[in-house]
Amino acid sequence: MQSGSLRLSFRFILPVALVWALLAYAVVPWVDNLTLRWFVRDLDTRSQMMASALQDPLQEYMAQKSPRRIAELFDRTVQDQRLFALAFCDDNGKLLYKTRTYPLTLGCMAEGRPQTLHQSMVPLPQGSVHVTESPLRVEGGNYEGKLILVHDTSFIERRSADARKYVLALFAVLAAVMALLTILIAHFSLRGVLDALKDVLVGDARPQARHGPHEPAPDIQPLAGDLRALLYEYSVDKRARDDSSRQWTPEKLRVLLREELAGDEVLVVSNREPYIHMQTAKGLQVHRPASGLVTAVEPVMRACSGTWIAHGSGSGDRASVDRNDRVKVPPARPSYTLRRVWLSKEEEQGFYYGFANEGLWPLCHIAHVRPVFRSADWEHYVAVNQRFADTVVQEAHTDDPVVLVQDYHFALLPRMVREALPKATIITFWHIPWPNPESFGICPWREEILEGLLGSTILGFHTSFHCKNFLETVDRYLEARIEHEVSTISYGGKLTQVENYPISIAWPEPEHGQPDVADCRLAVRRELALPENHLLGLGVDRLDYTKGIIERFQAVERMLEQYPALVGKFTLLQIAAPSRSSLDEYQNFEARVRSLAQRINQRFGSGVYVPIMLKVEHHDAEQVNRLYRAADVCVVTSLHDGMNLVAKEFIAARDDERGVLVLSQFTGAARELHEALVVNPYHIEQSAEALYRALTMPEIEQRERMRSMRSLVKDFNVYRWAGRMLLDAARLRQRERITSKIHSHSRASLRRVV
Ligand code: F6P
Repeated sequence: MQSGSLRLSFRFILPVALVWALLAYAVVPWVDNLTLRWFVRDLDTRSQMMASALQDPLQEYMAQKSPRRIAELFDRTVQDQRLFALAFCDDNGKLLYKTRTYPLTLGCMAEGRPQTLHQSMVPLPQGSVHVTESPLRVEGGNYEGKLILVHDTSFIERRSADARKYVLALFAVLAAVMALLTILIAHFSLRGVLDALKDVLVGDARPQARHGPHEPAPDIQPLAGDLRALLYEYSVDKRARDDSSRQWTPEKLRVLLREELAGDEVLVVSNREPYIHMQTAKGLQVHRPASGLVTAVEPVMRACSGTWIAHGSGSGDRASVDRNDRVKVPPARPSYTLRRVWLSKEEEQGFYYGFANEGLWPLCHIAHVRPVFRSADWEHYVAVNQRFADTVVQEAHTDDPVVLVQDYHFALLPRMVREALPKATIITFWHIPWPNPESFGICPWREEILEGLLGSTILGFHTSFHCKNFLETVDRYLEARIEHEVSTISYGGKLTQVENYPISIAWPEPEHGQPDVADCRLAVRRELALPENHLLGLGVDRLDYTKGIIERFQAVERMLEQYPALVGKFTLLQIAAPSRSSLDEYQNFEARVRSLAQRINQRFGSGVYVPIMLKVEHHDAEQVNRLYRAADVCVVTSLHDGMNLVAKEFIAARDDERGVLVLSQFTGAARELHEALVVNPYHIEQSAEALYRALTMPEIEQRERMRSMRSLVKDFNVYRWAGRMLLDAARLRQRERITSKIHSHSRASLRRVV
C-alpha cells in the first residue's frame, strides 16, 4: 500500500515538477518579455499622442514667453496617472521647463541611455521609467527643442507579476490535468488490452462488444490467434493423453473425481428416476424403468455417489422416502441418494407429456410426427424447471458442485442453476438428436431454450453431427460468439463447450457370471413354445413411434415373402415397454403396431406358429439380458435415435461372440458400430435383405464382427462417457481459474499503473 502511494506520488509529481521547471526557466521569462514589449509599444504610442496634443499650447505659451502658463500646462498634464514627469529642452540641450517630478539625472541628452530594443526604458534608482523625446517644431519646420515625457512603469511590473501568476496557475492546472489524463489513458488502454486478452481466453461476444461477434478487438488480433491455438493444442493434447491412457472403470471414475475435481460433489438431475417404487398387491416393489438415460447414468452414480434429483412418479414413491424426500439407492446396496421431486397431475401433463413429449420430442426426432406447442404447457415447463433448479440449490452442500443435467426435459435449468450458483460446473447432456436450425426454428420459445442450455459449462450430444446442428442453431437465433474450431459458444460473457460424447453402457463385470448362452437359447425357446433350433430375432424398445417398429415388422413380412423357406422357422420377438401411453400419438401408434403384427401373423402364421410375437409389457434388465443371449439377431430400426443403447447392450451380452446386429443408419450407434448390418429402415426391401443375411450369416463372420464390436463397446463404455465429460469440466474449471488469475493480475496491474 505504502509503495503503491510512493509510486503514485512519483508518477504524479514528476511530470508536474518537469512542467514547473519549464515554466520557471523558459515560459515565464518569455511571457515577461512579451508583456513588456506590448506595454512599451503602448507607452510609445501614448507618449506620441500626448506630445502632439501638447505641441500647440506649448508653442503658443512659448511664443508668449509665459513660463507660468507652461508650468501650469505641464502640471495639468502630469496629473495623468501614468505620466510621471515632463520636461522641455531647447535645441542647445538646455533644460528650460520641467515638472517637479522630473528626475534631474535624465537631463536633456539621449547619450548614455541603453540602446536596446526597449531603448525608451531607463533604469533609475527608484525604478525603471519610460522616456520618450518628441521634437517641437515651429511654423516653417524650424527645430526649437524637444519635449521629454517620462512615464511611470511600475504598473507594468504589477501587471507582469499578475500575468506571471495567472500563467503559473494555468500551467499548474494544465500539468495536473495532463498527469491525470496520462494516468487515465494508461489505465484504460491497459484495461482494454487485458479485457481483449480475457475475451480471447473466455471467448466473450456480448452484444455490446465493440468488435464484431466473431472477431477479437483489433489491437489484440495478432495475439488472439496464437493464444487460442496454444490453448486448443494444449487441450487436444491433454485430452488425447487422458483418453488413451485410461481404461475406464468405476474405480478410475472415482479417482478422476478425487484428483481432477478435488472430490467435488456430484448432483444429477433428470425427469426419469432410476428406481421407481410401486404399490402392488404384494406390497412395495422397486422397478427399473426402460430408459437409456437410466441405463447409462445409474452406474456412473454408483461410482461417484452424490445425489440424483428426479420426479417421483411411482405409486409407492412417497411411501419410501424420508421426511426430506430422500431415499438411499440401489435398494440392495445403497451408494447414492435419490431425491424425489413431486409434481401435480397438471404439472406432469404440461411439463412432461405436453411440452417435453408432444413438443420437443417430435421436434428433435425426424419421425414425421408434428410437434405441438401450447403456451400453457410452456408455463408448466418453466415452472417445473425452476422447481428442479431450486432443489439442486437446496441439495448442494457447496457453492461449486458438479451438476449433471439430463435431457430435453431440463433445457432451462442450466441457466437457472447458473444464476443461483455461478461457480457450479454444469454438464448438460442432450440424450436425443438435435435438429437442423430450420426445424428447431418451429419452437415458439427457441431463444429461451437456447439461452437456458447455454447456462451449461459443457453441453454434450451423442454425435458431432448433433453438435454441428446445435452450433448452427445458436448462430441462427442468438447473438453469440461461436468458435467453430474449438467448439465453444460464448454468450452473455459465459463460455459453453459443445462436444460429442457418445453414450454407452457399463461393460458387464466378468465375475458376474452370465447364464450360459446355450441354456438361455433353450430356456427362452421353451418359454416361447418354439422349437430348439427356431431362428429368433429380437427387438427391444419403448413403444415409441421413433423406434421404427412398424418398419421392422414390414421388413419381416417382406423377408417371409422373399424367402418362404423361413416361414415357420423364424420369429421376431418384439419387447415393447409401454411408454407415454396417455398421449394420443402413442395410443394410435400402439394400435397400429398391434394391428400390423396381427395382420402379418394371420398371413404367415399357422397353428401355434406366429412370425411376430409382440409383448407390450415391462421386462427387467435380467430378463432382457437372457433374451439378448438367446437371440440370433437383434433388430434396431429406429427412424431417428440419439444413440440407442439396445444395440450396445446386445453386443455386451454376447460373450459367445455370436449373433448379428441389424442397425438403423439413423442411430448414433451406427456411427460407432460399423460391423453391424447397417440399414435404412425406410427401405423395407433393404432391411428384409439384411435380416435374411443376418439369419444366414456364417458363424465365423458373426464372430469377427461381434469381436470387433465388443472390443469397441468394452473400451468406449459409460465410464469413459462420464469421465470425458468430467475431465473436460475439470479442464474448463482450470481454464476459468487461469482467466480469473488474469483478472486479478489485471487488477493488480491497474493498481500499479495508478
Ligand atoms: O431417449 C430419450 C429418453 O429420455 C431417454 O433418455 C430415455 O431412455 C427415454 O427417453 C425414456 O423416456 P421417458 O422418460 O419418457 O420414459
